[in-house]
Amino acid sequence: MMSVTVSAPGKLFLLGEHAVVYGGQCIVTAVNARLRVTLTQHSETDQAPRLMIDAPDVDLEEWAVPLQRVVDRGGFSGPSAFIESCVSVFYRYHPFVSGLHVETNSDFGATLGLGSSSAIVAAMLYGLGELFDMQLTRDELFEMGIEAIQQVQKTGSGADLAAAVYGGTVYYANQQPRQITPLEVESLPLVAVYSGEKAGTVNYVRQVRTLHEQLPDIINPVIDTMLAVVEAGRTAVESRDWEQLGRLMNIQHGLLHALGVDTVALATLVLIARSVGAWGAKLSGAGGGDCAIVLVSDEQRAQVVEALRDMGGEVLEIEMNAPGVRIEV
Ligand code: MEV
Repeated sequence: MMSVTVSAPGKLFLLGEHAVVYGGQCIVTAVNARLRVTLTQHSETDQAPRLMIDAPDVDLEEWAVPLQRVVDRGGFSGPSAFIESCVSVFYRYHPFVSGLHVETNSDFGATLGLGSSSAIVAAMLYGLGELFDMQLTRDELFEMGIEAIQQVQKTGSGADLAAAVYGGTVYYANQQPRQITPLEVESLPLVAVYSGEKAGTVNYVRQVRTLHEQLPDIINPVIDTMLAVVEAGRTAVESRDWEQLGRLMNIQHGLLHALGVDTVALATLVLIARSVGAWGAKLSGAGGGDCAIVLVSDEQRAQVVEALRDMGGEVLEIEMNAPGVRIEV
């Protein structure tokens, strides 16, 4: 095969963000905003094989580097980091000699906090597997993806990647062995709203880790409560008990607030949504900005959306429970 186009979904955290970093568990859902990658093999006769990238979402145009330099390296930074890291991990399993052109195109930018890094990793590795005729299982893809992410950011529970690889709504336990369980639910009555502020996930993970180290006797019980909320949330999702799930989302937001990752914009959106009839609302992800999610009935949805917009929130037209990484035809 000379060329392949693959897409992977973004994600939102239903419950368990931050707690999952400490060997805990969480629930994530894939969203139907997708990131697409087209991979093309290039045979260059006049020069050594190169990795070439056109990724307008991260301001990379006609970017190129010798392939050998990528595969010899271990740490990556800058806008090409995740793509380079995937190439280097894949190369360790399957060395190849051709040049490679990578073109990306996304329904969502890196600013919304929908997990663009994990989506690019899932799409890149799946695409490379297809291009070089390796039938990678989703589990293999996931393990390679974790390696690629670790090479760039040194942290990451893998929950975002689980959503990008497997799709749907998954219960994810960050333990050895990792547990990734799809939850049986056709749809989730959620509204996603962007707070207008971009969050730096890695910084917030670091900030919470510092707090955890400074106050272990106080932060450990917060994390334990988050994990109890995830377990109850799994039952609520599986039994479609939205009132209960809403209650649990509110508790998780409160615990995230206690960890210091809430913002004025997020708190405002969450409180206004609840005050006009949502079952529950919380920030989603690392905090410090990005999105909030609101669980709301069809009957209350319009008034919740209107209230969120009145508060300056950007309501995203996205659906939850979307398919995982796949070939685009
Ligand atoms: C960020 O999207 C979610 C966190 O739990 C970090 C992680 O899971 O790696 C805060």
